[in-house]
Amino acid sequence: MLVTGANGAGKTNLLEALHVGTQGFSPRTRADAQLVRLGCEGARVALGGERAGRPVLLELTVQAQQGKRAKLNGASLRSVEQLRGEVATLVFTPDRLAVVKGGPAARRAYFDRSLARLLPARGMLPTDYAAAVGQRNAALRRAAGGLGNRTAIEPWTRQVASLGASLVVARQEALGLLAPAFAERADELGLTEAALDYTGAPPTVEELDARLDRDLERGTTGAGPHLDDVTVSSGARELRSFGSQGEQRLAVLSLLLAEAEVLTELRGVPPLLLLDDVLSELDATRRRALAERIGVVGQTIVTATGADALPLEPAQLLEVKPGAVSEA
Ligand SMILES: Nc1ncnc2c1ncn2[C@@H]1O[C@H](COP(=O)(O)OP(=O)(O)O)[C@@H](O)[C@H]1O
Ligand SMILES: [Mg+2]
Repeated sequence: MLVTGANGAGKTNLLEALHVGTQGFSPRTRADAQLVRLGCEGARVALGGERAGRPVLLELTVQAQQGKRAKLNGASLRSVEQLRGEVATLVFTPDRLAVVKGGPAARRAYFDRSLARLLPARGMLPTDYAAAVGQRNAALRRAAGGLGNRTAIEPWTRQVASLGASLVVARQEALGLLAPAFAERADELGLTEAALDYTGAPPTVEELDARLDRDLERGTTGAGPHLDDVTVSSGARELRSFGSQGEQRLAVLSLLLAEAEVLTELRGVPPLLLLDDVLSELDATRRRALAERIGVVGQTIVTATGADALPLEPAQLLEVKPGAVSEA
C-alpha cells in the first residue's frame, strides 16, 4: 500500500498510529503524552484486520492520567505489551539508520527486539539478563561502599553467568535465522556480500570472580553479553564506519525485509511492514528492486510525497491530507 501526501500532511502520523495500535508504543518517542493531539485529553487507535481468515480487532487508548490500555477483540489485555505477542510490526524511519551507524547499544536493543519476535518463548531473556546485571551492579556498589559483603554478590554472579549463557545462545540462534535472508535481500538491493556477525561469549562464574576486584572498583559488571555487538558488513567493510549513508539505509531495509520473511515462515502470517520516507532516498534501480520485493512480502505500507515515487502499481493508494485519509 502506498500512502502519499505533502510534507506535514500526516503520513508519519498514520504509520505511528499503526505502530502504536499494534505494538503498544511509538517508534518515535517513549513519551506517551506526545501521542495525544495538542489540546486533547487522550488518543485512541482502533484497527480492524484479519488473521488466518478470522477478524481481529485491536483497540488502544492513551489517557493522560491512566496511561495506555489495549483491547483485543473487545477483551481488555492485562498490559499493552501483550499486543506485541499478537501482531508483529516492523518499521523503517530515517532515524532507524542508528541500527547500523550508531553505537553497540543501539544494535543490541534492535537485535534483542528481533530476538523477542523470532524466538518469543525466550523473548524475556534480554530483560531478565539486564535485571540480573543491574542487581549484581547494585550488590557490587553496596560491597564497595561497605554496606554489604562480597558473598552477597555471589548469587547475582551465578545468575549473570547462567542468564548470560542463555542470552548468547538465543542471540546466536536469532542471528542464524536472520543472516541468510539478510544477505539475500541486501544482494537484491545492490549491497553485495552482506553479513551479520556476532561473536558473543558468555562469562563463566570463574571469569566473573577473577575480575571481581575491577568490578568492585568500577561498580559495574565489566564482562558479559550486555557489552556485545553485532557487526554489519558488506564484503570486508564494516558498514558502521565505512558504509555510505545510502548503504547503511539499504542494510537497515534488508534487516527488516529479512525478518519479515523469517517471521512469515515461522508464524505463517506476514508482519506489518511500515516504511516511512524511504523511496525518495533510493536510486531508480534500487527503488524498483525494493518495490518488487514489497510486492512479495505482503502487508507493507510505504509513504512518499507523490505516487510516482513507487515504480510499480500499489495494491492500494491512499492520500493523506491534514486531518483526513482517503482512497486516491
Ligand atoms: N501531538 C501532536 N498534536 C498535534 N499535531 C501534531 C502532534 N505531533 C505532530 N503534529 C503535527 O502533525 C503534522 C503531521 O506530521 P507528519 O505525520 O510528520 O507529516 P508527514 O509525515 O506527512 O510529513 C505536523 O505538522 C506535526 O507538527
Ligand atoms: Mg513523515
